[in-house]
Amino acid sequence: MVFSEGTRMLAESGPSIDDLVASMTLEEKCALTVGGDNWHTAGVPRLGIPAVKMTDGPNGARGETAGGLSVTPSVCIPSATALGATWDPELVRQASAAMANQALEKGARVLLAPTVNLHRHPLWGRNFEAFSEDPLLTAKLAVGYIRGVQDLGVIATVKHLVGNEAEFERNTVTSEIDERSLRELYLLPFEYAVRVAGVLTVMTSYNRVNGEFASDDRGLLDGILRGEWGFEGFVMTDWRAIITTGKAALAGLDLEMPAPPRGFGPALEAAVRSGEVPEDVVDAKAIRMLRTFDRVNALHGSQAEDEQPSDRAEDRALARRAAAEGIVLLANDGMLPLDASRVRRVALIGPNAARLAIMGGGSARVVPHYCLSLPDVLADRLGAAAAVRLATGTDPHVPGGSVEDEPDATARLDEAVEAARWADTAIVVVGTDDLVESEGYDRDSMALPWRQDELVRAVLEANPRTVVVVNSGAVVDLPWTDRAAAVLQTWFGGQELANALADVILGEADPGGRLPTSWPLRIEHSPAFGNFPGENSAVRYGEGLLVGYRWYETRHLPVRFPFGHGLSYTTFDIGEPALSATYVPLGERLRVSVPVTNTGSRRGSEVIQLYIAPPGAGQMHAEWRFRPAKELKAFAKVRLDPDQTTTVTLELGPRAFAHYDSADPGWPALSARKPGYVFLHRPPRPVLHRACAGWYVAEGDYELHIGRSSADIAHIVTVRVDGGDQPLDPAILPD
Ligand code: BGC
Repeated sequence: MVFSEGTRMLAESGPSIDDLVASMTLEEKCALTVGGDNWHTAGVPRLGIPAVKMTDGPNGARGETAGGLSVTPSVCIPSATALGATWDPELVRQASAAMANQALEKGARVLLAPTVNLHRHPLWGRNFEAFSEDPLLTAKLAVGYIRGVQDLGVIATVKHLVGNEAEFERNTVTSEIDERSLRELYLLPFEYAVRVAGVLTVMTSYNRVNGEFASDDRGLLDGILRGEWGFEGFVMTDWRAIITTGKAALAGLDLEMPAPPRGFGPALEAAVRSGEVPEDVVDAKAIRMLRTFDRVNALHGSQAEDEQPSDRAEDRALARRAAAEGIVLLANDGMLPLDASRVRRVALIGPNAARLAIMGGGSARVVPHYCLSLPDVLADRLGAAAAVRLATGTDPHVPGGSVEDEPDATARLDEAVEAARWADTAIVVVGTDDLVESEGYDRDSMALPWRQDELVRAVLEANPRTVVVVNSGAVVDLPWTDRAAAVLQTWFGGQELANALADVILGEADPGGRLPTSWPLRIEHSPAFGNFPGENSAVRYGEGLLVGYRWYETRHLPVRFPFGHGLSYTTFDIGEPALSATYVPLGERLRVSVPVTNTGSRRGSEVIQLYIAPPGAGQMHAEWRFRPAKELKAFAKVRLDPDQTTTVTLELGPRAFAHYDSADPGWPALSARKPGYVFLHRPPRPVLHRACAGWYVAEGDYELHIGRSSADIAHIVTVRVDGGDQPLDPAILPD
């Protein structure tokens, strides 16, 4: 918090927030609705209301910035895809708490995270910053994240509401999303953030949603967020995203960030004076903001504004554990883990072997406390008995082209091949970096940049004992996977990635990650292909509900690796599930208990995933509402010693069976226009047209698919679920 000269602090026992706002002038109230600078709210010095500091972002508390970079270092935890791959909300809670601590050390009380937009398309530049393609996995991890932050008295900000699944023309584009897909997919993580985690701030997106800028959208802010979900915190814009004054004020936006003011502040004051915006609308904004700050005690006491971030041993250990828990073993013919006592000559090959990518670009980028060198870490861990030779093989950011364009390319490739031949063990580390994957632009292609496929093929040819490590923040083409002895996906694993990777390669940690996103065989198979990035200022979410595995499973399309996939170094048996009931009355919960046994010889982890297939799932049927073939509804990660068995309990609430029906209230009038004849050989079937929108449960037999990925199902059990003609009680939580 900043106290400008002469500012007195608000006393602990001071006036109530309502009285405080009542004592403010219109000018002061309006001043509160705009940032004081890039990273602070404005404060009201006359009344001792401090400016509150905010900081990005999802994988580190950036603090003050200069030239887009943090001025002091930060704990750099793994990026969101890596956290998504942990499938572990508790671990995410611990990681976000480490960041919240660092935010406090930098004087900040608001953390601009988590990002809960979905991986709609593999090429979105910010996929690395978002957890998953699946709304439930995203939602559960976001809840862990928000709790970790807010339990420490730091305000979390769930962002970006809503439909920000591409960088393309992000300030102007309209995301055209049907109501049902909005509710079931894109809004769901926000709903959890508000209703389950009690998030205190929401950041609107830059884009428009169905034609309306998010920060101007009364139906979204006042209607869904506050009206339906009961959100009590405040809503802020994304940076410089404000569009209007009166419209945004009436829609429910509270804070324009950052300074200088464009839509709120003096312009809002003028709108009140002209009668366009009633003053009590501004009062409500001031009250919401001050109450929120008060809840985390940010209005009282002083806090050093100097940034004094510490680099703690426990944060290092946590970052390392989180990175290993997110590393996905995509394929393994038994080469991994390496037996360190038998390795003599290791060739460490590839541009990312020399410089691991630990985070993506844009507002999530931080200056980490330190960067570890993989060659040094590995050499150290293998000891004097093994030699480690490094060969980059290709040069990052040399424009693509032929070998002739880049005279050194052949020599580099030859050096890599020679190293691979010399080695008893080759480790190729390929990937991207924070220039390839960044906020601000989308990727142009799913292919690995810098001719790395050529490099991998040449190394695989030279030495079949090759582990390929993929160090990208999002999905990249992996056309050679069948020929590699083992393939690991590390994501952007944060400051401890080198240690975590060595832990996994050497078998000191089990690869804990499972894919939070489907890995398509080709970009042309992906659901939004043809509707990405958009045209004529619009991006049509034409795949509707069929995002990610919902698409591949429903359309029976092959994938390179399915959603949820990831191998362990040990094996697990998923035993027969037991249900708490075989019939679920409307509004009741179901518990599914699943015994899991480690049948291998090492300690390891498994993620038990429960998908539902409602009646008629994946089929066209006019009498049912269309349902994707499978939808993830519960999951649990277990860590077991050899021969150990545990029973996981997966809970399904009423919303797990429900779908959102946006209703068709105009149907009675429309149906009056029936033609005067019917086809007698096929009389019309009754078709459902509801009058009222909401969450409905269709009665019938629901299959529960329990397994280790969307495609690897160990058991299918059926449960009879009661349905209803009326929507579920809106008070029922999504969880
Ligand atoms: C990003 C936000 C971020 C803000 C502040 C924007 O460009 O979209 O996610 O919090 O900048 O850096």
